[in-house]
Amino acid sequence: MTDTAAGTDWQTWQRSWDRQQEWYLPDREERFAIMLDTVEALVGPRPRVLDLACGTGSISDRTLTRFPEARCTGADLDPALLTIARGTFAGDDRVEFVSVDLRRPDWTERLPHPSYDAVLTATALHWLRADELSALYGQLAGLVREGGVFLNADHMPDAATPRLNAALHARDKARREREKAAGAQDWAQWWQVAAADPALADAVAERDRIFGSPAEDHSDGEIQAPGWHARALREAGFAEARTVWASPSDAVVAALR
Ligand SMILES: C[S@@+](CC[C@H](N)C(=O)[O-])C[C@H]1O[C@@H](n2cnc3c(N)ncnc32)[C@H](O)[C@@H]1O
Repeated sequence: MTDTAAGTDWQTWQRSWDRQQEWYLPDREERFAIMLDTVEALVGPRPRVLDLACGTGSISDRTLTRFPEARCTGADLDPALLTIARGTFAGDDRVEFVSVDLRRPDWTERLPHPSYDAVLTATALHWLRADELSALYGQLAGLVREGGVFLNADHMPDAATPRLNAALHARDKARREREKAAGAQDWAQWWQVAAADPALADAVAERDRIFGSPAEDHSDGEIQAPGWHARALREAGFAEARTVWASPSDAVVAALR
């Protein structure tokens, strides 16, 4: 990573995070765009957004680029990713970041606002077990204002189509192998490079203590189909919930409060 005279170049870390995530999700930007289309349709172009399990703040970045008058709270548990997020957005008072563990019953008390127009999350909630996620959905129903929206973009394969899934997975695996041969970093390699940067080394050691090593950090999470999420969200108190976008492996489920 390059260091500027002023210190660590957080934008370079931000871009490197995006490239690593896109290796897994080539349609990641399309997913973000459909989430923001849905936000605009439901709550307009000046939303107060909770970027849930924000990582480096990619959703906050896309939100503020598209809606300059939006306000964002990013919430995550990973001290290294929060360090990159805070470095990237330093001086931008439209966004703030808080450290929370979404598995804790009291995590919402750490938020700066009691309610949000939109809660958005991507590639994160499969880190939780189904019982933890159902409990979280109950908390989110209390956090999204009436008429507001929750959007979850995540791995949500449909187990009812195993041959389709296998064929499409094989095609995507071949793409990843080609990109790997051309130098793409996977999750474990990205964390190795982060640990070697003195500006992140302590925070990476701390995140390994919290989550375990990158090889095992979300091994006890559970992946559910889109229908499971829509049902769990309605049971949690959302008025409507449905898939608004899907790829062979992923979906975006929207829930209206
Ligand atoms: C693959 S990253 C996605 C980050 C970001 N949403 C994005 O799309 O770039 C998954 C995120 O979930 C966060 N996460 C996992 N379990 C969590 C928990 N119990 N509490 C808070 N954040 C959690 C991780 O720290 C990580 O930042």
